Amino acid sequence: MLEDRDFFVIEDAAGLILNEVFPTPQPLYLEIGSGKGEFISRYPQLYPKYNFIGLEMSEKRIRNCLKKLVPELNPNVRLFRKYVDADILQYFAPHSVAGVFIQHPDPWPKRRHHRRRLIQAIFLESLAKLLSPGGTVQIATDHAEYAAWIVDIFAQSPHFSSLQESPIQMQPNLDNHVSTWFEDAQRKIGYEPHFMLYKSIFQETK
Ligand SMILES: C[S@@+](CC[C@H](N)C(=O)[O-])C[C@H]1O[C@@H](n2cnc3c(N)ncnc32)[C@H](O)[C@@H]1O
Repeated sequence: MLEDRDFFVIEDAAGLILNEVFPTPQPLYLEIGSGKGEFISRYPQLYPKYNFIGLEMSEKRIRNCLKKLVPELNPNVRLFRKYVDADILQYFAPHSVAGVFIQHPDPWPKRRHHRRRLIQAIFLESLAKLLSPGGTVQIATDHAEYAAWIVDIFAQSPHFSSLQESPIQMQPNLDNHVSTWFEDAQRKIGYEPHFMLYKSIFQETK
């Protein structure tokens, strides 16, 4: 019998273009850092005409996600255990991803650790090559200084423009907001999420 893990987890991506793992070709969205799986288990149920891949570096978190996923309810979801950085491009066809969701990326608050942050200029170069024209990047973080860092990095990129009146808003920016484990935990101790939403400005990239 096919176990849930076999259904959901892409175990070996060598030579695979991940857009092709779904039986039904549909616009593809990625979530980076799926954590305990609230977003990747609930949001795709609202959008059955899209496919979703949750990219998560931690095996423990992949197992957390699997506890929330059911093949009958989540046929359009897959998980891939991966530390995401600019190299993520190699797993997808160029300009083939409709959108990327990043809920509460690790803020690495100490200055000497800032280079470990996911959002970096080189990562945006990769995202620009990954996203289809008009593709979106949605980000939430409760860390005010990281939010300002993210806005700065996006402002310096020629490939993105904000879709919000103000680049940071304190209200959810998706029609169907899914509150995650980390959002709930941080709200309880007084940290409100900052929401950002960008669109890819398509231009030929080398
Ligand atoms: C602060 S937690 C947030 C989890 C979840 N998105 C939420 O909002 O509850 C960050 C998550 O991202 C994962 N993560 C951090 N950096 C990553 C990276 N570069 N690639 C993939 N996953 C990453 C961690 O393992 C962790 O599950």
